[in-house]
Amino acid sequence: MTEQLPPTTVLGLGSMGSALAEALITAGHPTTVWNRSATRPEPRGSTRAATVPDAVAATDLVLICLLDHGSVRDVLGTAGPLNGKTIVNLTSCTPAQARDLAAWATERGAAYLDGGIMAVPPMIATPAAFILYSGSQAAFDQARPVLDRFGESHYLGTDPGSAALYDLSLLSGMYGLLAGILHAYAVVGSEGVAAVSFAPLLTRWLTTMVGFAASAAEQIDRGDYSVGVVSNLAMQSAGFPELLELAEHSGISPELIAPLGPLMARRVADGHGHEDLTGVIELLKKGADHE
Ligand SMILES: NC(=O)c1ccc[n+]([C@@H]2O[C@H](COP(=O)([O-])OP(=O)(O)OC[C@H]3O[C@@H](n4cnc5c(N)ncnc54)[C@H](OP(=O)(O)O)[C@@H]3O)[C@@H](O)[C@H]2O)c1
Repeated sequence: MTEQLPPTTVLGLGSMGSALAEALITAGHPTTVWNRSATRPEPRGSTRAATVPDAVAATDLVLICLLDHGSVRDVLGTAGPLNGKTIVNLTSCTPAQARDLAAWATERGAAYLDGGIMAVPPMIATPAAFILYSGSQAAFDQARPVLDRFGESHYLGTDPGSAALYDLSLLSGMYGLLAGILHAYAVVGSEGVAAVSFAPLLTRWLTTMVGFAASAAEQIDRGDYSVGVVSNLAMQSAGFPELLELAEHSGISPELIAPLGPLMARRVADGHGHEDLTGVIELLKKGADHE
């Protein structure tokens, strides 16, 4: 007789919740699902619970993937007894919200694990997906055979806020990159260059320059921005206005990239022109003079 895989409940059948539930069903886990509105179809092979208490009572392990922190609090507030449950919240939230929810769940006798999904729904259960977890180590160890169905699991420690901190910081890096990509297409497009013809060069350039993440990290951890400088800040700051001039000349709003210019200029004015761009991070820290 084959051993039954851990049964799991998934609260939320939006794009991501459905992808998670489908990954579990495909792997053979008995899966109970619940969604606020009945209009979302349940994945084939799952058992639909009529109410949140029914869904939570069905299994010891409860995964939550709803819109935001407020919806998670609303739903869990109606869940009934949580004693002995393991709750894995895969809803995006801030570190403070994750810590708040962990305290709330722990007071009610549940083990709490927070998760940050670094994937879009079609990537779930493929090698491209990785998921950050933090909170109860026991909950992570117990849930791991289930969690590994979604992608590579990274446990960041017992602070329930860590996964959200890493998640939102990774998204911040992504949005900075995406903002630059949109600006580049807008500018080049203003002279009739098709985005598809520019894309290979943009991809090649960004793929090369993404190495900045690793080299900047070493300078930032040392707090020394003058080691290994090949493109000093004074030179970069002198050239940056050309980007803004081009945007203006092209009729393109510079608002996605403009904020970096004054920060570079201030850092140069403060006597750091011989250093790397990395030193601009000092101006972002609380207490730095934001004129
Ligand atoms: N999609 C992605 O690419 C992606 C990637 C990484 C992380 N995430 C995170 O995954 C979470 C879910 O995203 P998604 O793409 O699945 O969103 P979605 O498709 O918009 O689904 C939202 C889900 O939340 C439910 N919901 C919203 N407000 C609610 C409330 N007050 N009470 C109960 N249920 C409520 C919706 O129920 P109804 O059907 O009743 O409206 C639906 O099940 C988000 O936190 C998102 O940041 C998503």
